[in-house]
Amino acid sequence: MTEPDYVLINRAHWDKHAHEWIAGGERAWGAEPAWGMWQIPDAELNLLPENMAGMRAVELGCGTGYISAWMARRGASVVGIDNSERQLATAQRLAAEHGIDIDFIHGNAERVRFDDESFDFAVSEYGVAIWADPLKWIPEAHRVLKPGSRLVFLGNHPLTMLVQDFRSDEPLTRTLMEPYFGLHRVDWDDGTDQGVEFNLTISDWISLFHFTGFDIVSYHELQAPAPGNEIRFYVSQDWAHDYPSEQVWNLRKR
Ligand SMILES: C[S@@+](CC[C@H](N)C(=O)[O-])C[C@H]1O[C@@H](n2cnc3c(N)ncnc32)[C@H](O)[C@@H]1O
Repeated sequence: MTEPDYVLINRAHWDKHAHEWIAGGERAWGAEPAWGMWQIPDAELNLLPENMAGMRAVELGCGTGYISAWMARRGASVVGIDNSERQLATAQRLAAEHGIDIDFIHGNAERVRFDDESFDFAVSEYGVAIWADPLKWIPEAHRVLKPGSRLVFLGNHPLTMLVQDFRSDEPLTRTLMEPYFGLHRVDWDDGTDQGVEFNLTISDWISLFHFTGFDIVSYHELQAPAPGNEIRFYVSQDWAHDYPSEQVWNLRKR
């Protein structure tokens, strides 16, 4: 079956850049769970169940697979799905090195081959959370989760989509440059690279969850722990100490 244009554009992007994510993936595989670019410990956010014994979990856009590894170590049987074969090659190598059994699958996680209600937990950190169309992947995650199960995902805060120039790789500014209303698909091209990301206004996220059949357990706007000059990816510490650079939605299927 043919994939939407953005899935192919993003596949090319991630296959090209997979080598840049190997070192970070290796570190995260050996580390305690911590979330996002500011590495907020899971002990603070409580996003992953402490004990996942007997649970079947899926990571949607697993990249190098470290969240899959954290869940497997907590006892879950885990499937990781990713759109980039090169990212999965790193994930598979690290799983073998750590002696952890995870089922890694290549494909678009907006449409997966699993039966209805086959998972107890679903997660994405900067996977489908930002690179896939929420109008497709949120209903698909809902379909494969059992009633009462959680979907947790972390990605860019919608505010970040308004204050960057998508034709450069300059860090976030303090000037509104893009409209908020109507936020959905964002095609970017910084001269050397292209990609397609997705986000929604906060009220559109909430409506999507409501109409799909998810209740909100908690919503987090993540703050950099301290001000400073360091730039992580495209965000300065100062910016992310003053404004939320990341959001986490913690949902439960009704
Ligand atoms: C930043 S990584 C996130 C994974 C992991 N948290 C990490 O940081 O290594 C983004 C991943 O999302 C994957 N991705 C993008 N679109 C996807 C889609 N439609 N279905 C599955 N995976 C997708 C990419 O291939 C990439 O490996």
